[in-house]
Amino acid sequence: MKRSTIDSMYKDIYVKGHPIFGQGLKFKADPLAFFEEIKTYNPGIQKFRFGYLPMVNLSHPELIKHVLQTNNKNYYKGREYMHLRPVLGNGLLTNEGESWLSQRRLAQPAFHKQKIQGFIEVMESSTEAMIDVIRTQPEVDLHDWMMKLTMDIVSRTMFGIQVKEDEERVEQALSVAIESSYGRVQRLINPPLWLPIKSIRRYNQSIRDLNEVVNTIISNRRQSKTRHDDLLDMFMYAEDEDTQETMSDSQLRDEVMTIFLAGHETTANALTWALYILNKHQNKQAQLLEDLKSNDWSYNTPYLNLVIKETLRLFPPAWAVGRRALENDEIGGVEVPAKSNITICAYQVHRDPELWDQPDVFMPERFEYEKEYHKFQYFPFGGGPRFCIGNNFAQLEMQIILSQFLRQFEYDCSKEIEKEPMITLRPKGGLSAQLTQR
Ligand code: HEM
Repeated sequence: MKRSTIDSMYKDIYVKGHPIFGQGLKFKADPLAFFEEIKTYNPGIQKFRFGYLPMVNLSHPELIKHVLQTNNKNYYKGREYMHLRPVLGNGLLTNEGESWLSQRRLAQPAFHKQKIQGFIEVMESSTEAMIDVIRTQPEVDLHDWMMKLTMDIVSRTMFGIQVKEDEERVEQALSVAIESSYGRVQRLINPPLWLPIKSIRRYNQSIRDLNEVVNTIISNRRQSKTRHDDLLDMFMYAEDEDTQETMSDSQLRDEVMTIFLAGHETTANALTWALYILNKHQNKQAQLLEDLKSNDWSYNTPYLNLVIKETLRLFPPAWAVGRRALENDEIGGVEVPAKSNITICAYQVHRDPELWDQPDVFMPERFEYEKEYHKFQYFPFGGGPRFCIGNNFAQLEMQIILSQFLRQFEYDCSKEIEKEPMITLRPKGGLSAQLTQR
């Protein structure tokens, strides 16, 4: 679309920017600051441009509800997700329409609350194994360990395997794949993936490495004579009601890759941010320890749940989501033309002073009043039909890991951590900590 067309189409509440790049440069320089700033131009909804792309940002809970829930049929996943497709293919996170719905229905039983209770043992034993290794090390990178641990848990519970021998390779490939995909989200014009330049070759190699691991998981399972009670079997043996066909290898690969990725990096980030913020607020940590002790180190204690919620408010791992309008729409009285790209920044809404008292302060107690909050003022797991399928899984996993870790260790990590908003909100440079056995 021509820049001049967008400018005139959006003239009602248009935030002017650079004549060529629009707001693109500001966004690239500091995405979190960008969303803070853009919000101040017009209440609830702002229009702007990223180069040639028409953009609409939503910062009011009711308007966010409109896109994610009320009129969700008019909104497909945005261009951020398009750039994840080389890695995730057409899995649950990126799929759309009827195909998405039938895959979601297939996967849903693997995530039911009751079913997830059956994962407690694996979550506990994986955590114990990690604790046994790190207790011998005076200094550890907690983020690194949380990534290893959540990868181990998701692959054991969902696919019945351990990726131990491939761990380093997968971590390396993942980090290249995520950084490259996000680099492509940030750039308006990207080199094609067939171009033989170093950065693209690295990106393609990382995808090949990930594919190899995922294809091995699938082919090992196909050769297995016994049935397994997990997501992989559910996907593998599901038959189409009309045709009795089973899922193609390529769809299976996409679903496995999606759960593998979506199911561990987000949770690892959340855990790292929780340990970071608890270290900064020793009084809250003491209160949490009291709570855990008095509940016999159970993982389901009232204050631990408040701490997890508050961590996900301040540091939402899925810090922004994007959508694309299929047809013209009106949001909060503002015309939104078809093909507009919608941004919804959970990080900004979760810290909006108009919605939250002392928004930047870590105050788990505020969630005692959660019922008073608008459903779309706090949405770390998204909302509407595309709500995170793994939210109960992630919460249980965080409860178990945090309570077991805090039971074992005092830890100190005094370094300030910068936020690194990539596809997820990462702790830049990890989180080094000295551990002392309690
Ligand atoms: C703290 C951890 C997690 C956070 C913050 C999180 C956040 C989110 C958010 C915000 C979405 C919606 C994205 C959108 O609307 O565009 C989402 C979708 C999804 N998440 Fe999570 N997630 C977490 C953990 C997990 C886990 C543990 C799994 C799987 C084991 C998982 C699997 C998925 C999948 C498959 C989708 C796509 C669902 C669909 O569209 O049907 N997530 N997640």
